[in-house]
Parts: sequence; C-alpha cells; structure tokens
Amino acid sequence: MVVTNTTERKPCLSGRGVTKVFGFGNQKTVAVDHVDFDFREGDIISIVGESGSGKTTISKMILGLIGVTEGEIFFQGQPRDIKTHRKKQEYWKGIQAIFQDPFATYNMFKKIDEVLLDCINMRGGKNLPKEEKERLMTEACSFVNLKYAELTNKYPFELSGGQMQRLMIARIFLLKPKILLADEPTSMIDACSRATILDMLLKLRDEINMTIVFITHDIGLAYYVSDTIYIMEHGKFVEVGKADDVILNPQAPYTKRLISDVPKIHEEWDLSTV
Ligand SMILES: Nc1ncnc2c1ncn2[C@@H]1O[C@H](COP(=O)(O)OP(=O)(O)OP(=O)(O)O)[C@@H](O)[C@H]1O
Ligand SMILES: [Mg+2]
Repeated sequence: MVVTNTTERKPCLSGRGVTKVFGFGNQKTVAVDHVDFDFREGDIISIVGESGSGKTTISKMILGLIGVTEGEIFFQGQPRDIKTHRKKQEYWKGIQAIFQDPFATYNMFKKIDEVLLDCINMRGGKNLPKEEKERLMTEACSFVNLKYAELTNKYPFELSGGQMQRLMIARIFLLKPKILLADEPTSMIDACSRATILDMLLKLRDEINMTIVFITHDIGLAYYVSDTIYIMEHGKFVEVGKADDVILNPQAPYTKRLISDVPKIHEEWDLSTV
C-alpha cells in the first residue's frame, strides 16, 4: 500500500485488518481483504474504486449492518462494541449513513413528519414541547430547501429522488452524528440536483463539524470534495493519502489508471488552479 502523509487530527474511526468473506468453499468471495484505515475528525474522506471493489461492503461493516469476518473497528479510540441492540442504538447516534437509493432504504409507510420526529426523539428530544419540535423540523427542512409546511402528512414516495435525498440530509441535520457515511448519494439524481446535494453535505459538515466518508467510483468527485482519498481495488486499499497527493502525484498503477480513465478530470474539477 502506498501511504502519503495525512492530517494530524485524531482518528474518530479506525480499522485494523478488517476483512469480509462471503460464502464458503468454491463460492467464497473475499469482498474486503485485511484493510487498515484511520478516518480523522472533521475530515472528508473518499473511498474510490470500481464496481465490486468492496466499497459498500466496507461501509456496511462500519455501520454494523453486517459482521466483520476478521479484524477490528475502533470508534473514537475504543474497540467498537455493538453486541447488544442497545449498544448498536448508541453507536448509531454517532454514525449515520445516506445511500444511493433512499427509497430502497427507508420505511415508505412513515409520513415525513414522523421520519423527522424519530430523529428528534433519537437525540433525546422526546419530551420537548410540540412547538419546539416543529421549530426544529422547520429548521432542518429549510436547511435543505424543503418547505416543512408542505411536507407534513406526505409520504416519502410522494417526493422526487432529489427531494428524498434532501430529506435524508435533513435527518442528518437533526441527528448530528459524528460521522456520516455517504454511499454514492448522488448517482441516481440529475447533475443539477447532484451539485446541490454535494453543496448541502459540505455545508452540513461545516455546520455540525462531522466527518464525512464518501463512497464513490468517481475519482473526479473524490478530488473535488475530499481531504483524504482511499483507493480500493479488489477489496484492498492500494493507495491512501491527501487528495492533492493522490490525484496530482499518484503512485499505484491502479490509481494512475483510474485517473487516466477520466480524461477531463483537469478541466472538470479545475485542477489547473491548484
Ligand atoms: N451479500 C453478499 N453475498 C455474497 N457476495 C457479496 C455480497 N455482497 C457483496 N458481495 C460481493 O462482494 C464484492 C464487493 O461488493 P460491493 O457491493 O462491496 O462492491 P462495491 O464496490 O460497492 O460495488 P458498486 O460500485 O457496484 O456498488 C462483490 O464481488 C460482490 O459480488
Ligand atoms: Mg456499492
């Protein structure tokens, strides 16, 4: 693995030898293969790799949605403990996710105000007066340019893809996690909404000072948004470093190939001005 210097902030999420094997015998797939990582507080990190490289698998292990076959994950310096339902709930106060297809991951039978109320309750606001809850929900909606008054009583399936993804960001605004995992959050929406969603995520990072882990196959996007880039190939991190170092001075052949596959990376992300 090629490692260049990363920033000196404290790691809030680390992994050592993290491995995921699916299936048995001849059917075995090593989706993630002994990876180490240190995601630092307040950083924007991108994990970049082609389809099937193990990006979603690692994010599911980090979230605790699937088990780790081997290795260990550390949250804020301590070995992560999510053995009981209660411990898992506690962990999810600190780490949240948004996915490629929000419709596939959300309970469609919950009205939008219930979706937002759940977030307030999860943050310990269950006994707040009704007016205060409404104020918080209105604030969260306006942060993502949605109108709360027009959304109460609606169901998520009555929203467009872009609106739904903005609702997911409003949830994060209320939940205020330490870490947000965003697995291809903009790949199913049009280019214009995509830029808006990215800007909102960056604004949210500044607002609540969280660490964002972007998962993407788009190295240009990774360069545009992140401080640190992890390049993933066949379940391994083959290059890790500051975004500028990785893109402007790639060392691993796979990184060089990913960059050369995006002939317009320099124009598109205006690398010339760096
Ligand atoms: N539940 C599962 N059972 C068996 N194999 C799986 C499972 N989930 C993922 N895999 C395999 O693990 C490997 C990594 O898959 P993963 O979904 O993590 O890739 P990815 O990098 O997220 O790809 P994409 O960019 O297409 O989303 C693939 O070979 C995939 O087929
Ligand atoms: Mg994936």
